[in-house]
Parts: sequence; structure tokens; C-alpha cells
Amino acid sequence: MHVPFDPAAGLEEVLRSAAVTAGLPDAAAFRPEVRPADPRHGDFQANGVLGHAKARKLNPRAVAEQLVAALPAGPRDAFDVAIAGPGFINFTLRPAALHAWLGAHTDAAALRTGAAGLARTHSGRTWVVDYSGPNTAKQMHVGHLRSAVIGEAICRLLEFTGARVIRDNHLGDWGTQFGKLIYGYKRWADQAALAEDAIEELERLYRLGNDATPEGSPELDEARRELVKLQQGDQGNVALWRTFSEVSLAAFQRIYDRLGIRFDHHLGESFYNDKVDRVYRELTEAGIAEDSAGALVVFHDDHPRFSRDAERPNPFMVRKADGASGYASTDLATALYRSEHFGADGIVIVTDFRQSDHFEQLFLTVRRWFAAKGHRLPELHHVTFGAVTGEDGKALKTRSGGTIRLKALLDEAEERALAIVTEKNPGLSEAERREIARVVGIGAVQYADLSQNRSSNYVFSWDKMLALEGNTAPYLLYAVARIHSIFRKAGVAPGDTAAFATADAPAEATEVALARKLVKFPDAVRQAVDGLRPHYLGLYLFELAGDYSSFNNAEKVLVEDPVVRARRLLLCARTLLVLETGLGLLGLRTLTRM
Ligand code: ARG
Repeated sequence: MHVPFDPAAGLEEVLRSAAVTAGLPDAAAFRPEVRPADPRHGDFQANGVLGHAKARKLNPRAVAEQLVAALPAGPRDAFDVAIAGPGFINFTLRPAALHAWLGAHTDAAALRTGAAGLARTHSGRTWVVDYSGPNTAKQMHVGHLRSAVIGEAICRLLEFTGARVIRDNHLGDWGTQFGKLIYGYKRWADQAALAEDAIEELERLYRLGNDATPEGSPELDEARRELVKLQQGDQGNVALWRTFSEVSLAAFQRIYDRLGIRFDHHLGESFYNDKVDRVYRELTEAGIAEDSAGALVVFHDDHPRFSRDAERPNPFMVRKADGASGYASTDLATALYRSEHFGADGIVIVTDFRQSDHFEQLFLTVRRWFAAKGHRLPELHHVTFGAVTGEDGKALKTRSGGTIRLKALLDEAEERALAIVTEKNPGLSEAERREIARVVGIGAVQYADLSQNRSSNYVFSWDKMLALEGNTAPYLLYAVARIHSIFRKAGVAPGDTAAFATADAPAEATEVALARKLVKFPDAVRQAVDGLRPHYLGLYLFELAGDYSSFNNAEKVLVEDPVVRARRLLLCARTLLVLETGLGLLGLRTLTRM
């Protein structure tokens, strides 16, 4: 039996070579376009015949028939094949092929490899993913949640599909605010408070510094002098600034640990300080940047909003009129560094949609600049997301109207989950309940974000994200725990292949439906990684859990008949594998009991 490891990708290849065998005109240009199908029609559908035939004035149905006739024996045995409508080809996996798939996918590695496997999608390619990127000397607040959660899921999806991923935290660690902070620090720093909660104290010192330096005051001149000293490398100020970065990073890392995030680099804006002169020089030499009242700017004349003739001209500010660098300057230097130093084939930057104009201008500028100078150009992606709002549709705030700190939000998630776990499972020890609450609470927050299309605003609702029903983390984690409990009852480990040796092919309707859903895991991953949209994988996992639940309600797993029992346990084991792997790709941890 031909084992369709990754059926859609496998069919894509099979159909391409069938086109050659069948002598189809322009066979080399034929794209089968195999996609998961409406389950009523089959598992996969090839949509590409129609377009190819029409463009060459051929009869699509006749072309489809030719292709089907040219299918080699392996795939022909694995699928029921039917031609539908004007020339679609539908493929339905036969039970024996489903069984072969289940038997072959023994672990997560098997899910990503195989003849046409997922792991080849990005193999040999380096991706730099720039996410989180908070500003130092400030707390992370709820606005920082989405970038961290979405960015980490994208890293894992890219890695799973073969990429070398470099996680880079582009900290906001440079800028005029440090003059005021140093001004405040030198006058009012409270060492005990710093030792207790450094960021809290730095925020207080910045507020004091800011209040004490109004526009036009001699105090503001003093704060500016502190900034200039820092920029010129004054030892004392540099040492202070370094401490600010260190204590900030330590606090950020406590949040990242809870979210399962580990950066490879923290190359913040300050790192590019000595790299912006080259940017100015090259952009000027290439005739891309020009002087505008002392500033160095870039226009894009074929763009409606960024051309010099735009209604409200909005050039990309490469260097400010006072000679200072800014967000644009450092981001340009960052792009070059990632290309030259990391050899990036792709760059993903994850921020909220309000930075869209900045990145559009950045990418336009980088494309022209790299072409002019012969720098190697990576794929550039700005991954945007909508705002987090409360259930009233307004920005999420604390009861007193302040911004919600990320730490407090994660604490609250765990507390709320603990209350639920305690109610459902009063018999577990306190330590067990806390551990479960940690996974469920944090997972609920992550998954609430990842389960929706990132482009939409996201309505933050504790009740919805912690519900045991619906497309939520608790629902999926509960499905995982429930399968583990079946294996405990059976006295078999889910990874114990020998336990499934006697299994036969899926037979009952809910068994077949579940198996047909399982084989579509690679397609869900592909869709998520191609669009850099993790919610496609979330939706798939939710549907899979639903198919599992239908199966579980209809069929008893631990029956006497050893063949049926093994067959159902095999389905349980693969559902577990796909759910755990999929949730792991989204950055969630899972539990064996709940
Ligand atoms: N520090 C920025 C912010 O807080 C995010 C950085 C995003 N990355 C970048 N290369 N600009 O909005």
C-alpha cells in the first residue's frame, strides 16, 4: 500500500507527472491545485484542471479523464477518484489508506517528514522573526500580548516546516526618553524600591523626570544634556542605561517564561546606533534619499500616499533635521544586518496595524536600496494584528482606567483557572491544581488570541476564553486529557505501537470521519504558515476535537474484541498526537489530566 504521508502534497506531485504521462499540452505548466475538499465530495480536490484546459481551449472534463487514466497504481489504490462538475477531480481516501496513514504517523517527527512532507516547505531557509519588542524601562502591558503570542506561534510553525528560525527581540531601548529618565534617576532614585521592583521604580523616575522638565525650562536643557552625554558614550550615563536594559530584560523574561518564549537575540534599537551612517551614505549614493530642509528623506513617487505629490506629503524620515537617527533609520539598518549577518531569506515583523505605514515605507525603501546596492533581498512580511478591546468594544483598561499590566493579566488568568479547576476537581492536591491552572489559564489567554484571525480586533473576555465549550483552550486541553485517561484505563501508553498491531482499518462512520480529519493536519499547518495566520491551525484543531468527540460518543473504545479495541485506540493515539503537536505549535502546553 502506498502510504500517503501528506496526501495533498503527494497528489500534487502525482498529478503533475500524470499530466506528463498523459501527454497533456503544456504539461510542465500544469498546476493541479490540490486542496482539502468539502467532506461530502471527498477528501481532496484538484481544482487546476479547469484553468489549464480553458486557457488552451481544451475540454476540461476530457482532460480530467485523461489525467485520471494516467494515475499510477499506488495512488489509484489509495483513493476513490471521481470527476465532478466541469472538470474537478475529487479524491477520497479509502479505509485501507487511512489505516496506512494512522500506522505510519507514530510521532511528531513523522508528522512533518515523509515523501512530500511539510518539513521541506522551508528547509534550508533562514527566517528572522521580530516580535514582542517592548520598550525598556517600562512594564509590558496588555498591548504587548498579541505580538508575543502570535510571533511565537509563527516561529514554531516556520520551524516545524523546516526553517532555521532566529527569534529577535527588537527592544525599544534608545531615544529621547532616556534623557528624562536619567535626569529623574540622578535626583530621586530609591535603591530599596529598585531592588524590590526595578521597572516600577524606573517608571516612577521617568514620570518625575518628565514632570520636572517642561518645554522651555532650564531643567529640560539639563535632561537633554544627559541624553547627549549618553549618546557620546559618557561612562556614568552608559552604565545607568545598561542597568535599565538589564533589569527590564530580566522582568520581560519572567513574562516570556510563562508564555514559553526564548529569544535568540535582543538586538534593540541601540544596537544599530553605529550602523546608521552606512544607511545614510548608501541611500544618498544610490539617489534614493534626498535632503529636505536639512533632513534626509525618501519619497516613493509611484505610491499614492508616499510620493512627493501626495496631498499630505509623508516622506520616510531616514535622518531627522537635527541629525538624529529615529525609528526609520534603525529599522533600515536592521534590515541590512539581518540580510548580511544572518543571511535571512525571510523577515517577519509582528506589530499592531497602526505601524502599517511605517513598514510599508520601510519595505519599499529596502527593495529599492538593496536592488541598487546589490544586497541580497529577503522576503519581507509585516504581520499585523488588531487591537485588544474589552467587551464594550473600547480599549481594555483596569477598573480605575489605567492600562493593564501583562503580569497582572497572566496572574488573573491563573487565578480564574484555579477557581474553575478547584470547583471541578476538589480532590486534587493544591500543587496539582495550581499546575493545571497555570497551563489552562495561560493557554486560555494565548489561544483566545490565536483562535481568531489576527487582522480583526480581539474582544478580551474571561468567560469566553475559559469556557469548557467552544473553540477555547480549556476545551482542547480537556480533549487531550480525556484521551490520556482512556490510555490510563487501558493500561497502554499512547506511544506503544505494539498495542495497535492488531488494529484493522477505520470502519464505523465516526471512525472514518475522524481519520479523514486527521490526515488533513499537514494542510492546516501549510495554510497557517503560508498566510502567517495561526488561526487556521486553531480552527482545524477545534474541528478535530469535535470529530473526536462524535467518535467517542458513538463508539466505546475499550471493548472486548481485540481488533476493534486496537483500531479505536490507534485513532485515539493519533488524535492525541495531532492535538498535542498542534497545540505545541501554537505555543501552548498540554496536560495529561485536568
Ligand atoms: N518597539 C516597537 C514598539 O513598541 C516594536 C518593534 C517592532 N520591530 C521593529 N523592527 N520595528 O512598537
